[in-house]
Amino acid sequence: MNQTDVLIIGSGIGGLSTAIHIASQRPELLITVLTKTVSNESNTRYAQGGVAAVWNESADSFEKHIRDTLDAGDGLCDLNAVRIVVTEGPQRVREIIDWGTRFDKSHAETDYDLGREGGHSENRILHYKDITGWEIQRALMAKANEFKNIEILEHYFAIDIITQHHLGYVITRLTPGIECYGVYALNKRTNEIEAFLARTTVVTTGGAGQVYRNTTNPVIATGDGIAMVYRAKGWVENMEFVQFHPTALYNPAGENPAFLVSEAVRGFGGILKTREGESFMHRYDLRESLAPRDIVARAIDSEMKQRGEECMFLDCRHLDKDAFIAHFPTIYDKCLSIGVDPMQDMIPVVPACHYLCGGIRTDVQARTNIRHLYAVGECTSSGLHGANRLASNSLLEALVFGYRAAADIVAQIDGVTWKTGIPNWNASGTTDPKEMVLITQSAKELKEIMSSYVGIVRSNIRLKRAMDRLELLYRETEEIYNTTTISPQLCELRNLITIAYLITRSASMRRESRGLHYNTDFPNKQDFVQTTLL
Ligand code: FAD
Ligand code: SIN
Repeated sequence: MNQTDVLIIGSGIGGLSTAIHIASQRPELLITVLTKTVSNESNTRYAQGGVAAVWNESADSFEKHIRDTLDAGDGLCDLNAVRIVVTEGPQRVREIIDWGTRFDKSHAETDYDLGREGGHSENRILHYKDITGWEIQRALMAKANEFKNIEILEHYFAIDIITQHHLGYVITRLTPGIECYGVYALNKRTNEIEAFLARTTVVTTGGAGQVYRNTTNPVIATGDGIAMVYRAKGWVENMEFVQFHPTALYNPAGENPAFLVSEAVRGFGGILKTREGESFMHRYDLRESLAPRDIVARAIDSEMKQRGEECMFLDCRHLDKDAFIAHFPTIYDKCLSIGVDPMQDMIPVVPACHYLCGGIRTDVQARTNIRHLYAVGECTSSGLHGANRLASNSLLEALVFGYRAAADIVAQIDGVTWKTGIPNWNASGTTDPKEMVLITQSAKELKEIMSSYVGIVRSNIRLKRAMDRLELLYRETEEIYNTTTISPQLCELRNLITIAYLITRSASMRRESRGLHYNTDFPNKQDFVQTTLL
C-alpha cells in the first residue's frame, strides 16, 4: 500500500496552493497530490476574468467587497467566512505574485490593471489578459515543482474515501467520530486499484459542470470529490445553487466545454442585446449588463424563451479594437474561428452551467465533518458564496482556504498516525464491461434530464420528473458498478448521478426562490436556511 503524510486529491488552485504551503513549512512531510488526468488540467486553468481582491484602497475597501459578496449571496452567506476571505485575500494574492504569477499592469506599469465584473461596486479584478487561470496554474505548478517533498501523481483517479466503513463498521451521516484514512484510487496506467494511506487527506476536486449538457467546465469536472465524501457520510449542503454563466459563446456546432466569453467583457463595456440590436437588461435590473449573474442569466433565458431564439448577443462593436484585442486576445481569436468578428458582428451568447456554489460543508479551517479530512475550493460549501457566487471570488476562496487548511494540518498532523489493517480493494465477482456504450448513453441521458428539468428555471413538476428519471439511471448504473471492473467513465457516471440527485433533492427541499435557485411554484423568498443533506 502507498503511504504518505498528506494526500491531496486534485491539482488545481486549491490542491497546489495547499500543497505548497504545507511543503514550505514542513519539509520533512511527504505530500502526495493525485490528479486524474494531467496535472495542469483543471477548472483553474480555464479561468478568464481574474481574482477579486481589494487592491486600490483609495477607491475600494474590505467593507465594499464584503457588501458585494453578501448582496450576491442573497442572505445565505456566512458573514465570518466572507470577512475572512475578503480581508485575507489580498495577502494570498501577493503570495502567488511572489511565486511568479503575472497580472496585467495598467498603462503606467506602476500598478495592476483592475477589471470589473457583474455585482462588483469597484474595479478589483486582477487578471492576466483573458487567461488568468492558465497563468495561475502555470505559476503554481512551477512553484510546487521546486519542493522535493511534493510528489504529483498523474492519471490516478480517486474512487472512494477510506473510513471505518472499510473496516466493517456501519456508519451513518450522524455517527460521531467518522475518520478518514486515505483513499482508494485507480491507477489508469495499470488499471489496478491502489490504496493510499494518509495521516491527513484534502479533497480539492473542483466542480461538477459536466452534469449539464452545456457547460463552461472541462470534462474533468464531474463532482467526484463531493460524491465520494457524500458516500463516506460527509455533510454536503446548498447543492441547488448551480451558477449558470450568462455568456458562453453560442456555437451551433456544439462544443464541450462551451467557450466562455468573460464577464470582464461586459465590465469593459460590452452590452447585451437582442438579435435586432436592442438592449434589454434595463427591464430586469438597474445595473443592466453588469447585474449579478443569476439575474443576467435568468433575463437571457427569459428573452430566449419569449422570442424563440437559440441565443442572445453581446455587442462590442463600439469598443476600441486595439484595447479589446489587448485585453481579450483569446476571446477575439475564438470568435474569429467560428466566423464572428467582435468588431463587426455581435457575439452570440447563451447561458451555460459554470460553477457549483454548494458542496462539502467546511468550517473556516477547511475541515469537513469527517476527522482528518479537509476540503478546499469549488467542491466545498465554505459559507462564502451563499445562494450565488460573486464573480472572481472562487480563485480567491481557494487561495484563502488552501492557506488555512495548510495551517491547521501543520498544527494537527503530529498527533495523527496511519491506520493499520486497511484491506486491499475487493474486485472479486466483477468482469470486464461488455458494452461501454451503455455508460456513455446514460451520461447523455443524465445531462438531458438535468438541462431540461433542473436548469435555470425550475418547478415542482420538473423536479419530480427529474427525480423519477434519476432513480432509474441510478439503479441501472449501480448494477453495472457492482458487476463489472471499474473504469474512470463508470466512476464519473456514478458520481454525476449522485451530484444530479443532490442538486435535485436540495432544489426540491427549498420551498422558495433565492439567488441561483428559481422555482415558479415558489417565486418568493421565504426562509434563510441551508439545505444540508442528511
Ligand atoms: P479545479 O481547478 O477544478 O481542480 C480540480 C482538480 O481535481 C483537477 O486537477 C482534477 O483533475 C482533479 N480531480 C477531480 N476529480 C478527481 C479524482 N476523482 N481523482 C483525482 N483527481 C481528481 N473563478 C474566478 O474566481 N475567476 C474567474 O475568472 C473564473 N473564470 C472561470 C472560467 C471558466 C471557463 C471556468 C470553468 C471557471 C472559472 N472560474 C473562475 C471558477 C474557478 O476557475 C474554479 O472555481 C476554481 O479554479 C476551482 O479550483 P479548484 O482547485 O477547486 O478545482
Ligand atoms: C468570467 O471571466 O466571466 C468568469 C469569472 C468567474 O467565473 O468568476
